Amino acid sequence: MLSTKLSATVRPFVRKASGIGALRSKHTVPDLDYDYNELEPVISAKIMRLHHDKHHATYVANLNAAEEKVLAAQAKNDVAAQVALQPAVKFNAGGHVNHTIFWKNLIGEKNGGGQLHSSALKSAIEEQYGSLEKLSAQVNAKTAAIQGSGWGWLTFNPAIGRLDVITTANQDMASSVGHVPLLGIDAWEHAYYLDYNNVKADYFKNIWRVVNWKDVAGRYDDAVAKHNSLKN
Ligand SMILES: [Fe+2]
Repeated sequence: MLSTKLSATVRPFVRKASGIGALRSKHTVPDLDYDYNELEPVISAKIMRLHHDKHHATYVANLNAAEEKVLAAQAKNDVAAQVALQPAVKFNAGGHVNHTIFWKNLIGEKNGGGQLHSSALKSAIEEQYGSLEKLSAQVNAKTAAIQGSGWGWLTFNPAIGRLDVITTANQDMASSVGHVPLLGIDAWEHAYYLDYNNVKADYFKNIWRVVNWKDVAGRYDDAVAKHNSLKN
């Protein structure tokens, strides 16, 4: 099956050569880099199975279905139908992209979860926020204040050339407001309720124990490099 990364390049040629949907590439749920139980006791295997195999899979299935409908509407030159489909594309694409980042942002404690080693990111966090503890407190406070469902983010904000802390509603992507996502905290009930019930503050407090800072630091390095290349 063609990967998500290839789809934008391949799809126009496939469509032209083979007709709508004939060989259309589809988005797929990426495999986890770790076992379902690796994040325990912070996040249970039960949540991970449901979250990855059911919730994320549903966003992917619905994104593929919405894109099929968009292609059909385009073929009929039905502009109104294409516009009407955009909320479904936006929501499910966000669900797919956000969760894909989220899985990579996490790793078990025995494999280095929660450990922020010396890096450009560590220096930036300490310079801007004073310490990782102060940063996590700020992220948690903002994320806990989300009304309904959404995401808390540590981002690189190109507008200021620095780290930033934001939230997005529902499945909105950090990139939709011009930020580069580095670390996402899924604040949907499906991310914690089976383990923490209504005490989501404990979920927010504990999740920092399983943050894959190596992944986050790599995203920061990439974002800074891109930012600097655009400046020059
Ligand atoms: Fe989620």
